[in-house]
Amino acid sequence: MGMRFGIPLKCVFVYSFVGDSCDRLGHLFYPTLCTVCNGNTSIIPLLGTNSGDFNHFPDDPEFADIIQRAEQAIESGVFPERISQGSSGSYFVKDPKGKIIGVFKPKSEEPYGHLNPKWTKYFHKLCCPCCFGRGCLLPNQGYLSEAAASLVDTKLCLGVVPKTKVVYLASETFHYNAIDRAKSRGKKYALEKVPKVGRRFHRVGLPPKVGSFQLFVEGYREADYWLRRFEAEPLPENIRKQLQSQFERLVVLDYVIRNTDRGNDNWLIKYETPGEGEGEEQKNIQDSCIKIAAIDNGLAFPFKHPDEWRAYPFHWAWLPQAKVPFSQETRDLVLSRLSDMNFVQDLCEDLYEMFKTDKGFDKTMFERQMSVMRGQVLNLTQALKDGKSPLQLVQMPRVVVERSRSGGQGRVVTLGNAFTQTFHCKRPFFSSW
Ligand SMILES: Nc1ncnc2c1ncn2[C@@H]1O[C@H](COP(=O)(O)OP(=O)(O)O)[C@@H](O)[C@H]1O
Ligand SMILES: [Mg+2]
Repeated sequence: MGMRFGIPLKCVFVYSFVGDSCDRLGHLFYPTLCTVCNGNTSIIPLLGTNSGDFNHFPDDPEFADIIQRAEQAIESGVFPERISQGSSGSYFVKDPKGKIIGVFKPKSEEPYGHLNPKWTKYFHKLCCPCCFGRGCLLPNQGYLSEAAASLVDTKLCLGVVPKTKVVYLASETFHYNAIDRAKSRGKKYALEKVPKVGRRFHRVGLPPKVGSFQLFVEGYREADYWLRRFEAEPLPENIRKQLQSQFERLVVLDYVIRNTDRGNDNWLIKYETPGEGEGEEQKNIQDSCIKIAAIDNGLAFPFKHPDEWRAYPFHWAWLPQAKVPFSQETRDLVLSRLSDMNFVQDLCEDLYEMFKTDKGFDKTMFERQMSVMRGQVLNLTQALKDGKSPLQLVQMPRVVVERSRSGGQGRVVTLGNAFTQTFHCKRPFFSSW
């Protein structure tokens, strides 16, 4: 392989065996020691350390274009910027002009990822390993949950999750360990010494990180802010209906994916009150519209129903909107799909294609995740048919639907009559774990 460049290849820098991506130059020198591809050179293109080599979206040229702009920005020194809130490493990604176009959450910087920038989490995990994370979720797969939520949203035509896909990006502003940084410096040095090699590479740098990339939505504010305002200044009837319809879509999404982290800070509302827009964008009451964006979907797709129901309620269930029975509009939108076994099976297969790419993928655990999801779909279908409200939905007994080995319809297991959520107290006993 060294002969590709017509030079004798000797390792002139430290090669790291940690990290979540295949460093292809290091890999070039010591392919059989590469922990990412395990020496399987056929799966990784040999030339170029550009993350663009990983990002292919042939079915979605619009998204491909956005990722390309993000890469161009990084190449020209406009780096992603870490979002200060939150316990994980999340980054606002910009275009070459510095406009925010996406939110990138690398796998390795998730709350319990090995490069999480927040030391408290690291110590939490170190000192209290028995109770870190959510016991019902697979650890360190938040980025997949983010992308999968977007897939569910698209397949059900809900339109509340900003498009999210698995993407590879590298940036100086990401959190890398000392070895990766030293290696990058070593590479630069090595390639300066051997310009012939340097010419073959677009950019020499840090290894790309795998993560979720969610499109940035503009003009939205946290739901909490708007919900308080709407309490004080009730909405006009047509807008209230729009909000109700959007809210029901959020409920459908969260219930299907069994989101364990839907506080009112993790969904956004966009509402331009009449007269607030400028010029042509100025809207009157008839034209104004209200939209919900469901962000931060990284803590969903549990492999079992949470035991600690008090810990992970759907916070929207306490809102007045949750007491209203699902509208005919929502039923028309999703019921035919949700009650179609082939649709659900298709969805599971699409999710399989996505989840299997993770390093820690485990088929048995994936099946368990799908059993929970099928159970949620079953309940939701029934609730929609019976004209229930979101509040009544979350009070239904939890079920899982296990796939039958014989290829039949599967086995429905009802997990007792315990409600998944009760409404005696306004605050859960444990708000996070
Ligand atoms: N797709 C998005 N569009 C617009 N703003 C976003 C988007 N995703 C996140 N944000 C903003 O960034 C903040 C943190 O994002 P979030 O996904 O909740 O990350 P964390 O995991 O750190 O809680 C949000 O409260 C919101 O203000
Ligand atoms: Mg959040």
